[in-house]
Amino acid sequence: MTFVIRGLAAAGALAAFGLPALAQTEVKIGYALAPDSHYGVAAAKLEEVVLQETGDQFTFTHFPSSGLGGEREVIEGLQLGTIEATIVSSGTLANFVPETGVFDIPFLFRDLDHARAVLDGPIGEEILGQFDSVGLHGLAWGEQGFRHITNNRNAIHTPDDVQGLKIRTMENPVHLAAFNDMGAAPTPMAWPEVISSLQQGVIDGQENPLSVIVSVKLDEVQDYLTLSGHVYSPAMLLVSKPFWEGLDDDQKATFETAATEAVAAMRGYVDNVETTGVETLKERGMEINELSAEEKAAFQESIAGAYEGYYETYGKDRVDAIVNFE
Ligand code: PAF
Repeated sequence: MTFVIRGLAAAGALAAFGLPALAQTEVKIGYALAPDSHYGVAAAKLEEVVLQETGDQFTFTHFPSSGLGGEREVIEGLQLGTIEATIVSSGTLANFVPETGVFDIPFLFRDLDHARAVLDGPIGEEILGQFDSVGLHGLAWGEQGFRHITNNRNAIHTPDDVQGLKIRTMENPVHLAAFNDMGAAPTPMAWPEVISSLQQGVIDGQENPLSVIVSVKLDEVQDYLTLSGHVYSPAMLLVSKPFWEGLDDDQKATFETAATEAVAAMRGYVDNVETTGVETLKERGMEINELSAEEKAAFQESIAGAYEGYYETYGKDRVDAIVNFE
């Protein structure tokens, strides 16, 4: 508040002397989901904290619901400096920083606490730091929750139930390898095409966390939900490197604080939807089943071949370090 008043007073003083007001920096922030999703909540918190701390130095323009295109296009916009900020899934991040793919390995994390501890710890920090070498700056790891399978063909209990299932995956080689190994027919696709492809029957299903299934109302186009929790879905708050380099040290510190608060808001949203989401989707008419520990183990076994590939790509030591992280 103090900063806002100070900012207004400064602007008034400039106007009184006939001087132009100081230029504000526009932050265009794009994300794939609606304002009332976990991404929208985080983007609003980022803006709130930055404005509180800096007065009138920045203005935010939000482009929710893929308003600036798919996640890959938005990240490329950040690299070009035409978009300042985004919140994205790990869907295409491995195309920019290949090491990121290690977090996309199925059955890697025990639970949300385990995933958050790894992302906030030294391994997460090290990978976040690598974005500076590709025209981006990673502010913080966020999250979506554990991904589950929805489809229109049948309930899923065993790997047999996914044979030939036309399932949309993110444009992510780690996920693609797992669904191929399971015997499904995975189709990598950018998010903006998914709903119409489900409506037209081009694909039978898709996989996403409850945060997405509930906020996008996937129940309107999908009959079955299998709580498979086959993979954790990290997200990232990213800014463009040219934008980041144009900030002074105080402004950088403010964006870092704001990102930490945005992540807390996002995780709070995920915690809430993880406890209420299933009931909401049942009320909306979805047929829901949860994989038992034995059923999950059968899926894990079905992707043993893909795991060999993950060890080769990311190193067994690194994968083990994540699995055993306390
Ligand atoms: O499935 C995806 O592509 C992502 O999870 C989504 C829905 C775009 C959110 O980042």
